[in-house]
Amino acid sequence: MLDQLRLCDDAESLAAYCRDWLVRLIGEHCASCDAPFTLVLSGGSTPKRLYQLLAELSPGTLDWQRVLLIWGDERNVPPDALDSNFRMVKESLLDHIDIPASNILGVPDPGGPAELAASNYEKLLRQKLTQRAGSFAPLDCVLLGMGEDVHTASLFPSTSALSETQRWVVGNHVPKLDTWRITLTAPMINAARKVVFILSGAGKQEALSKLWHAADAPDAYPAQLVRPESGELWFLVDKAAIGNVTLPANLQVSSV
Ligand code: 6PG
Repeated sequence: MLDQLRLCDDAESLAAYCRDWLVRLIGEHCASCDAPFTLVLSGGSTPKRLYQLLAELSPGTLDWQRVLLIWGDERNVPPDALDSNFRMVKESLLDHIDIPASNILGVPDPGGPAELAASNYEKLLRQKLTQRAGSFAPLDCVLLGMGEDVHTASLFPSTSALSETQRWVVGNHVPKLDTWRITLTAPMINAARKVVFILSGAGKQEALSKLWHAADAPDAYPAQLVRPESGELWFLVDKAAIGNVTLPANLQVSSV
């Protein structure tokens, strides 16, 4: 299947489109199998409005009992810290929906040694996710953002996590931020059935241009590592994020 791009007018219509896209995807999954839907949440600021709109869905629109929530990455801070991705999701979504606590798979005890938190997170995910043949359990949908430096999740340029080929989750020291992060690895992301970049605003134009048109240089542009093995790659974006960036020829594009 060709990579897919859906182009929305602005940030609000993008958030609404992403909401409806997820409701449809999760509904189709739940109608077709008994397994829970594994949804990996992105951190940062872009997806916050999406999470708020999901929280505002009328009861019964989305069966949260059937959804496992996973974090694609986490800052190595306690879950109540201002910059915690868990806290952002809790305030915009978790506090407003009927979801079993056992379905909320946040990083255990972040804030101490990042590698320990990463190892414990991988153990948790391995317990919770049914693993088909192969080294990486196939997640149903991974939501990603992208920074202006073309990082995604917490896969930052010139960091050790970029070369990981076996682990599902690693601790990653990010020198330019002078901080530690916990992140899904590129192979874990690429094992997913759907990987979705949600990008909004003119600040994404240069990063998209590098992602799509720069020479292959994943150490400099880590989002280039995102190539689903057998799953689908989607871009849900607004017009400001695209600007005058040339769309790759292999994208199936629809304005929505
Ligand atoms: C994080 C995210 C990170 C984010 C990008 C884009 O923990 O910050 O996982 O990868 O998605 O930095 O962030 P914005 O959506 O705020 O532009």
